[in-house]
Amino acid sequence: FTTDSYPEIKRDPKFAEITAEDVAYFKELLGGGGSAVLDGVTQELAADDVEPYNGDWMRKYRGHCKLVLKPGSTEEVSKILKYCNDRKLAVVPQGGNTGLVGGSVPVFDEIVVSTSRMNQVRFFDDVSGVLVVDAGVVLEVADQFLAEKGYIFPLDLGAKGSCHVGGNVATNAGGLRLLRYGSLHGSVLGIEAVLPDGTILNDLSRLRKDNTGYDLKQLFIGGEGTIGMITAVSIHCPQRPKAVNVAFLGVDSYDKLLVAFREAKAQLGEILSAFEMMDSPSQELLHAVRPEAKRPLDSGPYPFYCLIETSGSNADHDAEKLGQFLEHVLEKEVVADGVLAQDETQLRALWAQREGIPEVSNHAGGVYKYDVSLPLRDLYRLVDDTRQRLRDAGLAGASIDDESFPVVDVLGYGHMGDSNLHLNVAVRRYDKAVERCLEPFVYEWIAGVQGSISAEHGLGLAKKNYIGYSQTATKIGLMRQLKQLYDPNGIMNPYKYV
Ligand code: FAD
Ligand code: MLT
Ligand code: ZN
Repeated sequence: FTTDSYPEIKRDPKFAEITAEDVAYFKELLGGGGSAVLDGVTQELAADDVEPYNGDWMRKYRGHCKLVLKPGSTEEVSKILKYCNDRKLAVVPQGGNTGLVGGSVPVFDEIVVSTSRMNQVRFFDDVSGVLVVDAGVVLEVADQFLAEKGYIFPLDLGAKGSCHVGGNVATNAGGLRLLRYGSLHGSVLGIEAVLPDGTILNDLSRLRKDNTGYDLKQLFIGGEGTIGMITAVSIHCPQRPKAVNVAFLGVDSYDKLLVAFREAKAQLGEILSAFEMMDSPSQELLHAVRPEAKRPLDSGPYPFYCLIETSGSNADHDAEKLGQFLEHVLEKEVVADGVLAQDETQLRALWAQREGIPEVSNHAGGVYKYDVSLPLRDLYRLVDDTRQRLRDAGLAGASIDDESFPVVDVLGYGHMGDSNLHLNVAVRRYDKAVERCLEPFVYEWIAGVQGSISAEHGLGLAKKNYIGYSQTATKIGLMRQLKQLYDPNGIMNPYKYV
């Protein structure tokens, strides 16, 4: 757990400790009791109620927060932050708490400010596709709202049922269809945020184009809650595609997977909406944990699999194109086997082969996650090299069933269409020897090919010491100056990357 795992981090004495007067202030402000304040200090609600806010999704990081605040409006967020800033009480903004870098949970006793009660759709225009929502709207809820209007949220990911739109923007999440809809840096039109001193920054533009000076909202997109709290988001949403088709392919080598990707772009370019890759260990683990799941291909196993999705406006035309693509790559022996989803149930089952991996990666006890951007040609070599290194160190065996090793297996999967690999080391327990074997090895490897140590999950606590592998000292210096400007008392998400 955090404070044990990172003994070098000490609680900063400049931060005040929460007193009974503080709790009384927040109760008065938020209406007290009920869902507004979970009060682990006075035990009015059981301390257990605070626990879900202290622990992260991977069960890797654990804070010691005693107070969770759930404001219901931007004005309440403003009053909370102003009070905390004046009192020097440290704060962690939290959405759905699905973040994967330890950024969403406290390290010590920071107050969690949750967006869970800020969950209203504020505005939607069915001509422009502009949507404005509170930060606490769950991603899937926003997407269902849009589906009824014929639109789609330009971001989709496995945690959609829990994560909040504000959390997505704060992490600049990438997800499964970035290939098609681009980054949130492009689709987010505006944000409303509260600065640590309580100032409300109203930048909820609904315009696609606005070149009037510095684009300040970009600092909050991917800012990981370090300079302010996002309270609402304005985003440009595309029309929902009428036809979605999915193919699942088995491939004999990584080189052939590269050819398949190039062919998919050449033949399906305008309708291609996802190109996801999975290696054999990730699929074998998925089936070991979920033996009831049917394997999509009758043949195999193959060293690699990929899932290709198309999204367009004409079902027959798209199905024909994808069918022709599949015939072509089979005939040229680029892929060894493949299947096309025939209906919605099959389509979901194929997606489950990909979306189910994060959950099974964690199943045996824990997972070391490396979310990295690499040149496509080098991408899978990192997985092979990491597996070999762990075996050489006697930390991983040849079979996932051999319980004498802390490592279950090394998995490689991810958003190949965006050159984004997820290297996961599934473990039976978090283990310092495994960690030392992996870090800084993995980060040095990535820097050696000019990759990025964080493609889409952010830095949080997990990668705070490693930012230098991807950013220059000049840029890190400028980031520190910006942090100082926005948050001079340093109350926003302290101990994390900046
Ligand atoms: P949290 O986890 O609550 O917070 C994340 C960070 O944002 C923290 O630093 C927090 O302090 C800050 N934050 C939260 N809300 C605010 C706010 N309102 N204002 C300011 N700061 C705030 N990520 C991807 O990019 N692509 C994926 O495909 C993907 N798939 C995932 C699948 C699973 C099963 C899981 C568990 C996670 C996945 N993630 C993925 C990681 C994660 O980044 C996303 O789930 C999501 O973007 C986090 O949103 P959240 O509301 O849970 O944020
Ligand atoms: C994914 O693509 O599945 C997510 O980013 C989560 C993960 O990396 O495990
Ligand atoms: Zn991902």
